[in-house]
Amino acid sequence: MRIDILTLFPESFEPIKQSIVGRAVENKKIDINLINIRNFSKDKHKKVDDTPYGGGAGMVMKPDVVYDSYKSVYEPEAKVIYLTPQGKTLNQKKVQELSDNEHLILICGHYEGIDQRVIDEIAPEEISIGDYVLTGGELPAMVLIDAVSRYVDGVLSKESLQEETFTNNLLEYPQYTRPEIFLGRKVPEVLMSRQSQKNR
Ligand code: ADE
Repeated sequence: MRIDILTLFPESFEPIKQSIVGRAVENKKIDINLINIRNFSKDKHKKVDDTPYGGGAGMVMKPDVVYDSYKSVYEPEAKVIYLTPQGKTLNQKKVQELSDNEHLILICGHYEGIDQRVIDEIAPEEISIGDYVLTGGELPAMVLIDAVSRYVDGVLSKESLQEETFTNNLLEYPQYTRPEIFLGRKVPEVLMSRQSQKNR
């Protein structure tokens, strides 16, 4: 899977280079491509935002800059997503659906948002990670990538995913490992007897 991320803060994606997603990138299961929206500004000061028409606090990301960054990675088969608190809330079913795409383009907004005309033109799917407002789409994009990458072929073991389907995705049960007694707390008997059955 290829994931292109349009962002004003490419350096904020360092955390996803770690752990399971990092390994998936190393193993070439996922190709993550960071595109700095600022590089598409034609302004000599690399300006990417401006004051809103009609007044109001904050700044709005300029449509031409966002559009040009999008055009640099666009292909017709790509699934385009705009991370915004106004979007539909992400859930496990949507995560699974998204993992069927070969190419995702994620648009991260900042400031008070992106000029609506470029959103209307691109018509991305709008996704939120919850009913609260963050300072930008970068953390939501990382959340989405982490969740989706678990379903990309070869990232997790078949057993892990099968077990997850079996337990109805979200209903994980409590887990225990050695030692058998920790701070006076014992591993539930039912699991101990299952262990001894396994070892028989
Ligand atoms: N950008 C700012 N807040 C957000 C949220 N909750 N979900 C997705 N994108 C956002």
